Amino acid sequence: MSSQKSRFRSARIYGRTDRDGFIHRSWMKSEGLPANVFDGRPVIGICNTWSELTPCNYHLRDLAEHVKRGVWEAGGLPLEFPAMSLGETQMRPTAMLFRNLLAMEVEESIRGNPIDAVVLLGGCDKTTPGPLMGAASVDLPTIVVSSGPMLNGKFRGGDIGSGTDVWKFSEAVRAGEMLPKDFAAAESGMSRSPGTCMTMGTASTFACLVEAMGLSLPYNATIPAVDARRRVLAHETGRMIVEMAHKDIRLSHIITRKALENAICTIAAIGGSTNAVIHLLAIAGRLGIPLQLKDFDRLSSEIPLIVDLQPSGRFLMEDFHYAGGLPAALHQVADKLSLDAPTVSGQTLGEVIAQAECFNDEVIRDATKPAREHSGIWVLNGNLCPNGAIMKPSAAQTSLYRHRGRAVVFETIEDFKARIDDPTLDVDDSSVLVLKGCGPKGYPGMPEVGNMPLPRKILARGVKDMVRISDARMSGTAFGTVILHVAPESEAGGPLAIVKTGDEILFDGHARKLELLISDAEIEARLENWRNTHTPPKWNRGYYRLYYDHVLQADRGCDLDFLVGASGSNVERESH
Ligand code: FES
Repeated sequence: MSSQKSRFRSARIYGRTDRDGFIHRSWMKSEGLPANVFDGRPVIGICNTWSELTPCNYHLRDLAEHVKRGVWEAGGLPLEFPAMSLGETQMRPTAMLFRNLLAMEVEESIRGNPIDAVVLLGGCDKTTPGPLMGAASVDLPTIVVSSGPMLNGKFRGGDIGSGTDVWKFSEAVRAGEMLPKDFAAAESGMSRSPGTCMTMGTASTFACLVEAMGLSLPYNATIPAVDARRRVLAHETGRMIVEMAHKDIRLSHIITRKALENAICTIAAIGGSTNAVIHLLAIAGRLGIPLQLKDFDRLSSEIPLIVDLQPSGRFLMEDFHYAGGLPAALHQVADKLSLDAPTVSGQTLGEVIAQAECFNDEVIRDATKPAREHSGIWVLNGNLCPNGAIMKPSAAQTSLYRHRGRAVVFETIEDFKARIDDPTLDVDDSSVLVLKGCGPKGYPGMPEVGNMPLPRKILARGVKDMVRISDARMSGTAFGTVILHVAPESEAGGPLAIVKTGDEILFDGHARKLELLISDAEIEARLENWRNTHTPPKWNRGYYRLYYDHVLQADRGCDLDFLVGASGSNVERESH
């Protein structure tokens, strides 16, 4: 059988004439596969995070069929397999808790099966980085096909954006500026098609970063989910992954240090989600590429906001695509990028963006007339966050870039919800809202609650932003002067744990400082007391227990400590 001469790992399984070869092939023939497809051609795994519980990925079975067409056309054998799907709007306590579980599942599914290369189908926030982390630890040729953004939301004749307008409308209802019946009407007009949030939320951000890192074909990030051109892209991806399998172009050949740096620059240019920081750190950890929190500030803070999309700006992903998509945006910051970085298209990143044209300079700004001067990620240091904290200046009110105020502390999210609208709450416009217990271990899973709603009585005064500090994340669709990912988190005994209502806090964005204005001796005394009185949560079994015992802090990507690194694709033993 010719497959015995094939160099593919699948040929070591399908190319045998003994009992084990019989077993491997015979059961696959039950799917209607003829004998000739086991002739040594590359087997392409199509990892699909489709689920009816993940509406953003609802159309991925259709896209998978188009990937298969391309694989067959190019002479490969496509085999689709499911992976746990994580619906951001459906899962409790938070989809982030399960990102690492998804990564483990994908890693072992790829390694354990006779697969030579893999196409990852994902979209909703965790369903791109999770599979990518798993795939990175196996390191076969890999391409991502994203869900693509849903159509622009519509309400009262105008566009509305996923998430971003939910936060705005919700605050407007609380402030008495929007009728509940209009709130309900907006709910029906916001999500009009399958696809991911069409603001520059986490899903759109990460799809852009995947494209910027060269791990998808050009325009993968922006083609709307229901646009026929996404099916074409899926078909072309099927052809391309077969070529990559033949050339043995592995994931680690594409995601290099340069590619990660290009991704960090891209976060700034697009006004991307703070969640991307955690996911990129985790992916770098899988690949053994040194990447630190400070790299995000160093590489991104000099880059202005080029793409004028919500939540940092005005427009939505459909507009972004029709204006020229990510290549046109990267064209504006080309001097900051490593243009010789390879992409799965076979071209370098520089070659891809050299061909790009901009068709709407309101949406994709010229670098000399950016949407904002300050973009990217600010990485803060100080005694309140010894291992760092981050914020997104493009989503914040510039008048709060330097602020000193009195802390109003909430010990848990339940405490926050119970008291935030209490008319007797001792809070004013200059207060700093502090939320504890929402980090990786504390919640558990580090939910997107860092963009705390403002107190009703402050909203009623027309105030739209306050400084907020927590160990939580925030939705990529959210906005405000929100300091996130404080590390170590309160549950891990970081100084956040000992902040009391009434303490003074200084935030100086330009100096990258976050300071609790009490003495070192007082901090140490309070921490000592915290250590003596703190009772950790009792997760006795299952994934919660595994996660709590092993999750790393935000500054290290929140991976599980034993998943950092890679194990390659080799499996020594037969199954029978
Ligand atoms: Fe799935 Fe936003 S909820 S991408």
